[in-house]
Amino acid sequence: MKILVLGAGAREHAIVKALLRTGTAKDDLIVAPGNAGIALDAHTEPSLNPNMPLDVTKFALEHGIELAIIGPEAPLVAGVSDALRSEGIAVFGPSQAAAQLEGSKSFAKEVMAAAGVPTGMARECSTIEEVADAMDEFGAPYVIKADGLAAGKGVIVTNDREAALAHAEKFMDIGILVEEFLAGQEVSLFFLADGKTVVPLTPAQDFKRAYDNDEGPNTGGMGAYSPLPWLPEGFVEEVQRDVAQPTVDEMAKLGTPFVGLLYCGLILTERGIRVIEFNARFGDPETQVVLRRLTSSLSGLLYKASTGQLNGATTPDFSKDVAITVVLASEGYPDTSAPNRPIYGLTEAEATGIEICHAATAPAVAETTADGVLLATGGRVLSVVATGTDFAGARKQAYAGIAEIQLEGSHYRSDIAAKVAN
Ligand code: AMP
Ligand code: GLY
Repeated sequence: MKILVLGAGAREHAIVKALLRTGTAKDDLIVAPGNAGIALDAHTEPSLNPNMPLDVTKFALEHGIELAIIGPEAPLVAGVSDALRSEGIAVFGPSQAAAQLEGSKSFAKEVMAAAGVPTGMARECSTIEEVADAMDEFGAPYVIKADGLAAGKGVIVTNDREAALAHAEKFMDIGILVEEFLAGQEVSLFFLADGKTVVPLTPAQDFKRAYDNDEGPNTGGMGAYSPLPWLPEGFVEEVQRDVAQPTVDEMAKLGTPFVGLLYCGLILTERGIRVIEFNARFGDPETQVVLRRLTSSLSGLLYKASTGQLNGATTPDFSKDVAITVVLASEGYPDTSAPNRPIYGLTEAEATGIEICHAATAPAVAETTADGVLLATGGRVLSVVATGTDFAGARKQAYAGIAEIQLEGSHYRSDIAAKVAN
């Protein structure tokens, strides 16, 4: 099966590695645009803009693509799935309309209300006065969310009233949602959806804050681990029954069936499971650990989801081994951006047995750097992924690997999965 993967991040690199590990031939795979690291594993098409529906469709037709896998949200929101589907190509990724489940937090709240899905109370606000009123209603800590796509930086959770109001002011033009604060452990659980049926993958936990001990600003995600040994019995079944299935049913009822990956961002509160967000795509960096543990054919699963063929017999298999991923970020991330700088030690890092998923790397062109040296070109540069029979071992390996990598000014969290390793 000829497969096109759209995207250029560590998530797409993890998807590529999982495809190759579970039976896809390298010659059957093209990644557009990809990045310098993905290009080491697969054929990439750096000049194809994944957000252009007509260009992507033309490319897919010319290359006989039978399955398109859409990594990031931007192509979904741009309608790339719709364009590909109109030419009869199987697409893993929701339509533009269904992707609103991620693109609009207020739409997501409406769907959840209609479907009876448990979530936090929230108020939609269009003026700063409304924001202040809602903050008074719910009290501190304040949770302020931009109502559109904001690259993982649209949410602030703070006790600082002024900071909360300033954040609301900054994103007021795309709309603001003020939400009640929910206390508890966070869980990311992904479901494959074919428009009717949902099939769970395996739970993971993401570390959203920039620094150790959950300090610092929210980021796109600084690390993750899977599975979550502390989850109560029946958790996955409960989320499937109370969250994922009713949401997909409601989307079908609205005439916008959801085909692709339903990312359920959950908090396990004292009063039960609550949804804090939906995404319409694989999460980054959770994908690096979830797919690292997958042993079933990834292309087979995604093709079934894309063609309405999921059913009760579709049960993805996962290794009993645990997986952890640690993200290496550039100096200043997520607040400021650093200049492009050379990365050293990648070969030595891989020699320790870890896998590296590249996010923002490009070949160096300057004469001052040796051949083959890569530059860090963005905030989240790469993630290292390690597995093991227990978290202590996997952590040891991940941190030994990342210690080999040198990038001036870079930082990473040292406490990923620390609580489950004993
Ligand atoms: P989101 O982009 O909605 O996932 O929010 C980013 C992060 O903010 C989440 O991963 C949580 O850590 C935190 N967050 C979001 N909503 C809430 C809430 N209602 N209560 C507490 N924390 C929240
Ligand atoms: N890891 C969070 C996200 O992908 O949105």
